[in-house]
Amino acid sequence: MKYIRTSITFLLISLSKWDEEPPDQLNLLSEYDFIVVGAGTAGCVIANRLSEVSEWKVLLVEAGTNEHFIMDIPIVANYIQFTDANWKYYTNPSDKYCAGFKNKQCHWPRGKVMGGSSVLNYMIYTRGTQQDYDNWRDLGNNGWGWNDVLPYFKKVEDYKIPEFSNSEYHGTEGHVYIEQAPFRTPLSKAWVKSSKELGFPYGDFNGPKPASVSFLQLSLKNGTRHSSSRAYLHSVKKRKNLHVSKASMVTKLLFDDSNTKVIGVVMEKFGVKHTIFARKEVVVSAGAINSPQLLMLSGIGPRSHLESKQIGVVKDLQVGYNLMDHIAAGGLQFVVNPQKFSLNTANIISHPSYVFQWMKSHTGPLSVPGGCEALLFTELNNKFNATAWPDFELLFIGGSTNSDPLLRYNFNFDTNIYSETFGPLGNTDAFYGVPNVNASEV
Ligand SMILES: Cc1cc2nc3c(=O)[nH]c(=O)nc-3n(C[C@H](O)[C@H](O)[C@H](O)COP(=O)(O)OP(=O)(O)OC[C@H]3O[C@@H](n4cnc5c(N)ncnc54)[C@H](O)[C@@H]3O)c2cc1C
Ligand SMILES: *[C@@H]1O[C@H](CO)[C@@H](O)[C@H](O)[C@H]1NC(C)=O
Ligand SMILES: *[C@@H]1O[C@H](CO)[C@@H](O)[C@H](O)[C@H]1NC(C)=O
Repeated sequence: MKYIRTSITFLLISLSKWDEEPPDQLNLLSEYDFIVVGAGTAGCVIANRLSEVSEWKVLLVEAGTNEHFIMDIPIVANYIQFTDANWKYYTNPSDKYCAGFKNKQCHWPRGKVMGGSSVLNYMIYTRGTQQDYDNWRDLGNNGWGWNDVLPYFKKVEDYKIPEFSNSEYHGTEGHVYIEQAPFRTPLSKAWVKSSKELGFPYGDFNGPKPASVSFLQLSLKNGTRHSSSRAYLHSVKKRKNLHVSKASMVTKLLFDDSNTKVIGVVMEKFGVKHTIFARKEVVVSAGAINSPQLLMLSGIGPRSHLESKQIGVVKDLQVGYNLMDHIAAGGLQFVVNPQKFSLNTANIISHPSYVFQWMKSHTGPLSVPGGCEALLFTELNNKFNATAWPDFELLFIGGSTNSDPLLRYNFNFDTNIYSETFGPLGNTDAFYGVPNVNASEV
């Protein structure tokens, strides 16, 4: 009986959530003021802000389709990568990197869904420090210094962490909820406590003393994923001047006769080609991989590469050459006693009581994004100084890939290398410390 009731509740939640998303627009106009390509983290914000001006007609185009309520459950973050909500990109085989992975290829997940990669990500809200932005400004990027960007960070946030509330650093009227997970393993508590004992400052890593340790700040709303689409589109779905076209792939930007101004897009939806014009601007927010791809398909890119693909060159530019990835070494596992609770996703989601707990109150282990719980930022040469400029991040994950074969598949680990390295640990519970280096230091 309980199971039936629960399933019905699940279904109802699912249907009601579906309904909150702006509908797919079938009757598209031939011209809009703005066309926004990609309804990801950036595109949803831009579409919301532009359509505040009611005289402007805005079209938001997204290759993926509806966000599903299962994607709201933080612990399954990794599993969403197996669905069609992921573009499932892989790097080319190489002898220089990704050597521990199948065919020497890293899996590069990217969101293909309303909300884009904010539906796949781990929701960790780290803004970067004052020194990061001031450094950008000093490199010649006017308008990107800390004092320039801080007002916008505050505008984004509805900051819900009372312990770190500070009106100089945080906003409470923005669209994106910032919370900590309502559940902590004893492992993460011990990890944070022991970091403090070693001398690392405890505090808000998005505050005045960022080189510190604490539990993660997350784009999380009441224990559920607060994707960019949920934060910026759901509340404006009734705006008449905002059209959203889903399952729609933009394949080309259109130029005016002088080839210097973008005036529209070609887009494919359900096998039909549409040409749609923009009176003012086309905003390309298709993500770190697809934005450059779209530029190149449209003739903006390195000449030799475009010519090798028989694409007419509109502008010879080094598009895609500044791609960076953050480097993390996800191999540092620590075995724990089985009676110490760890965040093994497969175990947790097969435990009805945890699933019911999340459904009822959005609490418990399902509310932790992919097992990620805490972090430490530090400057390695100035370890215990809270106002130093961090060049190193240690991410604490309260689970491991050892007891969850799906996760191994997820990361595309080479089976032999994995079992030679981690096999001896067996299926025991473990936690991870994942070191991340600051890319500018590499
Ligand atoms: C697994 C994972 C974990 C992550 N964890 C974190 C984290 O914890 N914290 C953090 O800050 N960041 C994290 N990130 C990074 C963060 O999610 C991204 O930086 C951010 O979402 C990028 O936003 P975007 O708007 O540039 O692109 P996206 O959000 O990827 O949006 C691009 C959108 O454009 C659509 N699109 C692409 N091409 C076309 C086309 N031709 N026509 C129409 N639509 C198109 C895509 O389908 C997608 O919806 C993570 C990313 C991943 C994948
Ligand atoms: C959080 O979600 C649960 C489950 O839907 C609900 O019962 C509760 O009222 C919500 N809390 C807030 C503050 O919205
Ligand atoms: C901490 O780091 C900041 C920034 O580099 C520096 O100004 C300050 O003097 C340092 N404090 C100590 C105690 O080292």
